[in-house]
Amino acid sequence: MTLKRTALVATLALCTAIAAAPARAQPAAAASAANDPGYVPSAGQAGKDVIWLPTSQSLVDRMLEMAELKPDDHLVDLGSGDGRLVITAAKRGATARGIEYNPDLVALSIRTAAAEGVAARTHFEKADLFESDFSNATVVTMFLLPELNLRLRPILLAMKPGTRIVSNSFDMDEWSPDATEEVTSDCSTYCQAYRWTVPAQVAGNWRLGDGAELALQQRFQMLEGTLRRGGQLLPVSEARMHGTQIRFTAGGESYTGQWSERQLQGTVNGGARAWRAVPAPG
Ligand SMILES: C[S@@+](CC[C@H](N)C(=O)[O-])C[C@H]1O[C@@H](n2cnc3c(N)ncnc32)[C@H](O)[C@@H]1O
Repeated sequence: MTLKRTALVATLALCTAIAAAPARAQPAAAASAANDPGYVPSAGQAGKDVIWLPTSQSLVDRMLEMAELKPDDHLVDLGSGDGRLVITAAKRGATARGIEYNPDLVALSIRTAAAEGVAARTHFEKADLFESDFSNATVVTMFLLPELNLRLRPILLAMKPGTRIVSNSFDMDEWSPDATEEVTSDCSTYCQAYRWTVPAQVAGNWRLGDGAELALQQRFQMLEGTLRRGGQLLPVSEARMHGTQIRFTAGGESYTGQWSERQLQGTVNGGARAWRAVPAPG
């Protein structure tokens, strides 16, 4: 963990710890604010597992660009705060959902979405993100804490291959990001975001059309393995998944292809010939 990242984690975690106690002591005040149209949240206020701090609008915009958000996407923001990621996604034509534990922030988000003219494409709910099903999302955004990202990691990895995940400031440990970007304008802290694409699970033995056997081991999006052709056992290198897309090199040849419904198919050496593989029997 870098010094800068350690400091970011420590700040957010410390604020979360400090903020948690008074928030639990004042439930009546919190409940009444939900109907107050003048409610203004304060940066650093308590949250269930992490405080509320808004992502700067410049990073919100960048995160949605990193996600390559399109109108047919369905985004979910886990811990949606004042709704800014959800509302910005809806303004870009997508449908978007915010899951937020604090009812005041949920009510504020609903009012803002209506004022911004995107009520029909947004949905906000008061819920614990760890008890919510968001498996239908095609884009997941979050600004939580490293340990919360790690709790979410198996759930995210089980999502549909190709789902994009973008996190403000915190990564997912050994699941290395596909992209890291930072904004420098209109942002003073928490200005970096990471993006992952949920990889299809391709570990196992595959039989190619020409009788070759491809054995793959997988760790997140990274692949290793061998290609057995005739009497030769060729190491597989430069191998990885990007969502449903596979690429690797074996025997000096470059394979690219697509995973779908338990088969891999694509081309070798940029289209010189086609290849296809199905799971090897047994
Ligand atoms: C750091 S803020 C990020 C807000 C927003 N996503 C953004 O980027 O501007 C984290 C949010 O998560 C919410 N939160 C914390 N624990 C939660 C939980 N278990 N379920 C749902 N929301 C939670 C907090 O109330 C807070 O609004």
